[in-house]
Amino acid sequence: MQSSRRKFLTILGGGTVLAAISAGTFLSTRTPHQALAPWDMAGNYTDVRKWALSYALLAPNPHNRQPWQVDLSIADQVTIYRDKSKDLPHTDPFERQLTIGMGCFLELLSIAATKANHKVSFDLFPEGEDGPIAIATFSKGTTVDPLFAHVMDRRSCKEPFLDKAVPVALAQQLSGYGNVITDADKVATIKKLSWNAWMVEAETPRTWKESIDLMRIGKAEINANPDGIDLGGPLMATLKLVGIMSRESQLDKESSGYKEGVKMYQNMLNATPAYCTITSPSSSREDQIAAGRKWIRLNLMTTALGLSLHPISQALQEYPEMAEHYTQAHQLLAEPGHTVQMLGRLGFGPTIARTPRWPLEAKIING
Ligand SMILES: Cc1cc2nc3c(=O)[nH]c(=O)nc-3n(C[C@H](O)[C@H](O)[C@H](O)COP(=O)(O)O)c2cc1C
Repeated sequence: MQSSRRKFLTILGGGTVLAAISAGTFLSTRTPHQALAPWDMAGNYTDVRKWALSYALLAPNPHNRQPWQVDLSIADQVTIYRDKSKDLPHTDPFERQLTIGMGCFLELLSIAATKANHKVSFDLFPEGEDGPIAIATFSKGTTVDPLFAHVMDRRSCKEPFLDKAVPVALAQQLSGYGNVITDADKVATIKKLSWNAWMVEAETPRTWKESIDLMRIGKAEINANPDGIDLGGPLMATLKLVGIMSRESQLDKESSGYKEGVKMYQNMLNATPAYCTITSPSSSREDQIAAGRKWIRLNLMTTALGLSLHPISQALQEYPEMAEHYTQAHQLLAEPGHTVQMLGRLGFGPTIARTPRWPLEAKIING
């Protein structure tokens, strides 16, 4: 986030912000260490289930809600639930994206277990849709999944990408992981679509407010709730300090904070040389889990290849105001009747910071 945050600051702040920046000591202590601690705890457990779970909780997931909960009361098993109090009723009314996030979590659990010489088999939705997402059973003996090596470096890169094409050779290496789109005309069409769809989300009061309510602005808020949309670091702290960055300013469409935020997103969405999709012929809960499992493998592979990936889901969201863009996305990106489960920007992005996580202990509901 740093480069665009800096730009945001320059545009918005002028002298006030620079004066606040000179309060250097305050700013240099703005890293939310507590919210980032689960990254350092990954791999620091003796129970193999906890060991693998400590990596699984680093999975990408919508709005970083981290809806997973686990029951460890049966030996060699993990019963995995989705915490419905973390739902996103406006932007994800059918819980499709949240289920995809659970798929990312399951796959990461399975990948991590291989590093500890364990195989994980999943019994999906053993009690139907309203029960657990899965029962994971651990057994000994397997080979290490090479994607494990990239778990700690994987990110959803919410930044402008370099004006540099994705080389054909790299795109080909991703072909087993997702659909890669590099055709210039198609890229231009998706760019426009993603921007129009983003504006619908921003201009639909209930969907915009859903995101604003999940903003964690500054270190104290991020540490208190290490989930949602984290706006941290010295620059955001400064904007908060001088009153430019607040939930109120983001809800006020006339404020400079809102307007510049919109410009920042437009720049980011424009700076995209390629896209990736994951589609499926139908969209059962099992298909959504499978899509999540594919997405995290794609994201780990892009990391391995030095590429950045960023999910952009607005055009895939299922609420009436988005219908036109949803239809266009499906006409463009999927066969008739199929579902586009994930759409992401692909390119060369900067190295970005880790996102916050709740500790594993906060997610164990039994055992
Ligand atoms: C199903 C799904 C949909 C997502 N949609 C978006 C999106 O529309 N825009 C966005 O910036 N990030 C999106 N993300 C990325 C999450 O915001 C991100 O995974 C989360 O904040 C954690 O950050 P990390 O992936 O860098 O660890 C999505 C992730 C998933 C799994």
